[in-house]
Amino acid sequence: MRLDRMLSDAHAGTRSQVKKLVKDGRVTVNGVTAKHSSMQIDPYEDVIELDGNRLIYEEYVYLMLNKPAGYISATKGNVPTVMDLIPDYKGMFPCGRLDKDTEGLLLMTNDGPLAHHLLSPHHHVEKEYYVEHKLPLTMDDICRIEEGITFQSISYRPAKYEKISDTSCHLIIQEGKYHEIKMVFESLGDKVVYLKRLRMKNLRLDDNLKPGEYRPLTAEEIADLKEGMPQ
Ligand code: URA
Repeated sequence: MRLDRMLSDAHAGTRSQVKKLVKDGRVTVNGVTAKHSSMQIDPYEDVIELDGNRLIYEEYVYLMLNKPAGYISATKGNVPTVMDLIPDYKGMFPCGRLDKDTEGLLLMTNDGPLAHHLLSPHHHVEKEYYVEHKLPLTMDDICRIEEGITFQSISYRPAKYEKISDTSCHLIIQEGKYHEIKMVFESLGDKVVYLKRLRMKNLRLDDNLKPGEYRPLTAEEIADLKEGMPQ
């Protein structure tokens, strides 16, 4: 494996940042200063250090992306995809799907088993959204949201509704059906005008991330997402 790949997988920085670390002489391989970021290393056998601190190779990478509007949640396409926002990472995919015009928290990873676990309809992983909608909701509308709705022959499970104003709320859902929140509001004769995902399980969108920015998950965040997975 290339040294720069190992460094970025070990969260030392993006591919371009780690190239600079090597150029600046801050990376050693088995005690010798690395000259080229393209050099081949064995991530399990060689001792790689950054500023004297040993880096541990991790097979899986986990990034929290603040998805901006205008990108599709796919790995390929003729239109901009979320992969264009993490050009230094290969082999990653979005864990779940946000519509092109939806913003907010998107977990990007190469950990298939974790993605499968989080997206399984059996695990009821909570997803919290901030929603702005066109019309005020009636008490009856709110009851319908909280009891679950069948619309155009598709049933949407009960959601938790937390009012912010007459035309904005937090909505917490446990499944991820296609256009789920938009369809729920459409079934009430209303329309979603802005949608942003704020949370998945206990993973909250980092306020410091501007749209289009990302950061690696912390060890605690990864452990929390994996909780309940078969070992
Ligand atoms: N529900 C939607 O309608 N769209 C999304 O992007 C996510 C949830």
